[in-house]
Amino acid sequence: MTGTVPTSTLRARAEIDLGALRGNVRALRARLAPGAGLMAVVKSDAYGHGALPCARAALDAGASWLGTATPHEALALRAAGIRAPVLCWLWTPGDPWREAIEAGLDMSVSGMWALREVTDAARAAGRTARIQLKADTGLGRNGCQPADWPELVAAARAAEVAGTVRVTGLWSHFARADEPGDSSITAQLDVFHELVAYAEKAGVEPEVRHIANSAAALTLPDSHFDLVRTGIAVYGISPSTELGTSAELGLRPVMTLAASVALVKRVPEGHGVSYGHRYHTPAETTLGLIPLGYADGVPRHASGRGPVLVGGKVRRVAGRVAMDQFVVDLGTGPDADAVQEGAPAVLFGPGDRGEPTAADWAEAAGTIAYEIVTRIGPRVPRVHVNGQEGHEDGAAGDRDGAGHREAGAGR
Ligand SMILES: Cc1ncc(COP(=O)(O)O)c(C=O)c1O
Repeated sequence: MTGTVPTSTLRARAEIDLGALRGNVRALRARLAPGAGLMAVVKSDAYGHGALPCARAALDAGASWLGTATPHEALALRAAGIRAPVLCWLWTPGDPWREAIEAGLDMSVSGMWALREVTDAARAAGRTARIQLKADTGLGRNGCQPADWPELVAAARAAEVAGTVRVTGLWSHFARADEPGDSSITAQLDVFHELVAYAEKAGVEPEVRHIANSAAALTLPDSHFDLVRTGIAVYGISPSTELGTSAELGLRPVMTLAASVALVKRVPEGHGVSYGHRYHTPAETTLGLIPLGYADGVPRHASGRGPVLVGGKVRRVAGRVAMDQFVVDLGTGPDADAVQEGAPAVLFGPGDRGEPTAADWAEAAGTIAYEIVTRIGPRVPRVHVNGQEGHEDGAAGDRDGAGHREAGAGR
């Protein structure tokens, strides 16, 4: 979607409060161990919040790095003029190594195949590639196994000597940092210390060593090294209920998902609602139709449970969430009568205006808040507000070429 769309006419919108995002970055930076910088993780379109405006706001607030999963996400940041250091970590054979080298990206290397592809590309480009060696210290996902580390480090050092690569980073990722006290956390830290020491002894001089995600950034100063890679906390969401709520962690949720009520109607007692009739009205009542569905990322698993603020009260999804719409039972009485077509329905937001939070939806759907925000679909325009420092209303927030309250900016 292009062009400025007045928010009041939108079927639905995800309002992205860039002022809150900047506040979260500052709050996180204040908690870092001395000397540690902050990477804002903006993969998956900044967890659904819009990569470009979020990347810019995070850099404004003092993030020194950006992180993406795919090289394409990182190249899109460069194409938009972002010059800050960017690490991208999820590579598959045949990916655009040469473009990444020419764009000055840092590329994660977890195995010998990747080192071969990046050195070939560096030779072809006549440039030195910036690579970061990733170790699997226990997550069991991406990263080089400790047993294979000596071979990878030796080959990377040889490539450094040949001038094709520069090893700018040594890094890893936690499996259970959101479960404070879990024994895997110290075990992974121990392995990381060993693998870093091994590489440094072999001659690697990394600019950055890093292992901490949001949970570790918030709870484990010993894991901060030179950099933390924070994603979910930048968007104001607690990594897990075990760590506390956003407010308890000093964070403010950035995304508010709202829709305009599409239809209000009176129905008799016993009326079946939505596919499968999983809800029957217990009495004569008023139903409100909310024009958002699972195509927009509203989880079908939250059928019968998802909370929505409409007409001053939190209601539950009545019956099944469909592809494009769901229904709430507004009940009877003056607050139900006051709801008309066009009234706002807020699915989630920061939570301090009586609305539910993404964490509430995660609980209702049996998932994590990461998934709730990240899966909000492309049909829902992102409306970025408070785009520039000192502009409470978001006016003049035009650095992404989008303008004030631009729907779909940065997507
Ligand atoms: C490698 C890596 N680092 C950092 C992050 C950020 O994690 P979080 O959003 O929990 O801060 C992620 C996200 O999954 C990741 O895959």
